[in-house]
Amino acid sequence: MMKDIIIMAIESSCDETSCSIIRNGLKIESNIVASQIKSHKRFGGVVPEVAARHHVEAITYVVDQALNETGLSLEDIDAFSATTGPGLVGSLLVGVNAAKTLSMTYNKPFISTHHIAGHIYANKFLTEFKFPLLTLVVSGGHTELVVMKDELDFEVIGETLDDAVGEAYDKVARVLDLPYPGGPHIDRLAKEGEPTYSLPKLMDDDSLYFSFSGIKSAVINLVHNETQRGNEIRKADLACSFQERAVELLVRKTKMAVRKYGITQVLVAGGVAANSRLRAKIVEDLNNIEVVLPPLSLCTDNAAMIGACSYQQFVSEDFATMEEKVRPNIDL
Ligand code: KG4
Ligand code: ZN
Repeated sequence: MMKDIIIMAIESSCDETSCSIIRNGLKIESNIVASQIKSHKRFGGVVPEVAARHHVEAITYVVDQALNETGLSLEDIDAFSATTGPGLVGSLLVGVNAAKTLSMTYNKPFISTHHIAGHIYANKFLTEFKFPLLTLVVSGGHTELVVMKDELDFEVIGETLDDAVGEAYDKVARVLDLPYPGGPHIDRLAKEGEPTYSLPKLMDDDSLYFSFSGIKSAVINLVHNETQRGNEIRKADLACSFQERAVELLVRKTKMAVRKYGITQVLVAGGVAANSRLRAKIVEDLNNIEVVLPPLSLCTDNAAMIGACSYQQFVSEDFATMEEKVRPNIDL
C-alpha cells in the first residue's frame, strides 16, 4: 500500500490567517481559520498594514492548532504549501515565509499555490473533476470564468472589466450602512425584500465579460437622490433589486460559456459562491448540467482549498524553490 501524502497548507492573502492539513488531497484533517474581520470592520474594509500585523500574530497559532487537531507532528508532513498570490503583499509574505521556513527546517518540498486555483480546487472535496469543466469564480477581488481541460490547466475565458462582484456587494452594502464585509448582509436582507427598484440590466451583450461598476454607481445615485428628496430607502428592496441584477448577469454569462465550450461540469468558487440567491439560480437555470457548490466554509478564504490544489501540484511534482517570491498581482 502507498504511504499517505500529508500536506500542510497556509493561506494569508487577505484578511484570514489559515492553516490546514490535508491527507491524500481529499481528507481535511484540520482547517483552522483565524478571521480578522472584527479589526477591519471599524475601517469598513481591509487595511493592508493592519492585516499583515494580524497575520504575524496569528500564524503560529493556526499552525499549532492545525497540528493539535490531528495529533500529527511537523515530521509527519510531506510538503508545505502557501498562497503566493494574488493578494496583499505584506499578508502574503507572512504565510509564504512560514511555509518556506517549515519546508527548509524539515527538509520537505515547498509548493507555491495560486489563490484562485485554490478556490477552484475547494470543489475537489466534493466531486471528481470532469473535463472540460467551467468554474465561475466570484470573490472579493475576482470575477472570472475559467475553463479547465485537465488538472492545473486554467484558461480564463471571461472576466470583469471593472469591479469584482464581491467588491460591488461590499460597496452597495456600505451605502446601505451595513457592516463589512457586506455580501452576507445584502444576501440576508434581500430575502426580506422584493426587486421593486428599477436598476439597469448588466452587460446585455454576447461577450463573456462582466461589469459591476455601473450598477454600483446606479445604487449610489439612487440612494443619494432619494435621500435628497427626503424619501426613505427601502433597504431590503434595494438589496434585492441589486442582487437580482448581479446574480442574473453571473448566471447568464456562465450559461453562455457552457454552450460555447461544450462544458460537462460547472463549479462555483470564491466568497460570493456562499450567496444563497446565486446558489439557487445557477442550479435552476443550468438544469441540464452538473453544478457543484462548495459548502459555505469552503467558499470564503481558507487553507484547505489551497491544500487541495497543492496536493495536485505535489502529484505533478510542481515544487518551488526557496527563491520563490510573492506575486500580489499574478494571473491564473
Ligand atoms: O473569496 P473571499 O473570501 O475573499 C477574496 O478572495 O476576495 O471573498 C470575499 C467576498 C466579500 O466581498 C464578501 O462580501 C463576499 O465574498 N461574500 C458574499 C457572501 N459571503 C461572502 N457575497 C454575497 N453573498 C454572500 N452570502
Ligand atoms: Zn479568496
